Amino acid sequence: MTGRPPAGAVIVTGSGSGVGAGTVVELAGRGYQVVASVHSRDRAAGLAGLVARSGVEIDVEELDVTDESSIPAFVDAVAARHGGLHAIVSSAGVMGVDTFENEDLASYRRTFDVNVFGPVALLKSGLPHLRAGGGRFIAVGSVAGVLGLPFQESYSGSKFALEGILEGFAPVARRVGVAVSIVEPGPISTDAVGRTDWARILDRAGPYEKVLRQYYDNAAARQGTLPELPATQTAAEVASAIADLLGSDDPPFRCQTAADTRLLIARKLADVNGETVGTVIGRWLDPAPSKTVE
Ligand SMILES: NC(=O)c1ccc[n+]([C@@H]2O[C@H](COP(=O)([O-])OP(=O)(O)OC[C@H]3O[C@@H](n4cnc5c(N)ncnc54)[C@H](OP(=O)(O)O)[C@@H]3O)[C@@H](O)[C@H]2O)c1
Repeated sequence: MTGRPPAGAVIVTGSGSGVGAGTVVELAGRGYQVVASVHSRDRAAGLAGLVARSGVEIDVEELDVTDESSIPAFVDAVAARHGGLHAIVSSAGVMGVDTFENEDLASYRRTFDVNVFGPVALLKSGLPHLRAGGGRFIAVGSVAGVLGLPFQESYSGSKFALEGILEGFAPVARRVGVAVSIVEPGPISTDAVGRTDWARILDRAGPYEKVLRQYYDNAAARQGTLPELPATQTAAEVASAIADLLGSDDPPFRCQTAADTRLLIARKLADVNGETVGTVIGRWLDPAPSKTVE
């Protein structure tokens, strides 16, 4: 897409922190009319800091993406105020770590409410506006939506569900003039990771404690040395990839935000019997060999 960004607003959900906050500032810097939809203004310090440093102007609104009844009015009001709706970037998400045995179904439901039903409700409400102007919907998925990750089964399941729903709808959306995409980042250095209560999880892990420790020791210590273990990106790098996708003339359905994640996802997508992924993940779960890793 060349020249000025199209008319109409871009709603970015979950923009109080992390990737959402970075995307708001990146898009505003590129000239889009951005509506930063934050879960709570009280917890939007990350966004406030970025906005103050960059000097961009944005419209900040509160929205809980699990509050299904408020979403249609929210979307309609944004479109009315900004002369239409060009795009929705769905970044709101929750992630958690636990053993499969310990995570209860209430946690699965909370995760799916935010990560699946939230974006689905937003897209459904946004479509009449997006159809009117050749609009776009970009969901922030994850490498965990293509490869099931150990100790993040509910999170992976929610991102898989989102992939499946959007993959089904994307070709239909194309035919009514709307481009639907999902970005698939690997690990990102945001607060979402720092919020994990390791002491509590390990304390309750019982027979899984050893393998859980090994998995996360590997993730922390062996990035860049273990083949296929993607390096951590910053929220700003992922935001820049999202902005490039939004600005592209012919956006793909799937967009990885880093080359190493793309390679890993390519192997998964070609892994018809699950053997390759089983081997790769197995290497993350097992103790590091004493000598340099290949
Ligand atoms: N961090 C990673 O390693 C990683 C990797 C791949 C993909 N992702 C994806 O990237 C996206 C952004 O995550 P992040 O890493 O930037 O983490 P983050 O900083 O925690 O951002 C997530 C945002 O979602 C908001 N949120 C949570 N529940 C919400 C709700 N019900 N309604 C509205 N907003 C809600 C949070 O607000 P509150 O804190 O106020 O609740 C927070 O601002 C997520 O979809 C995540 O799954 C993250």
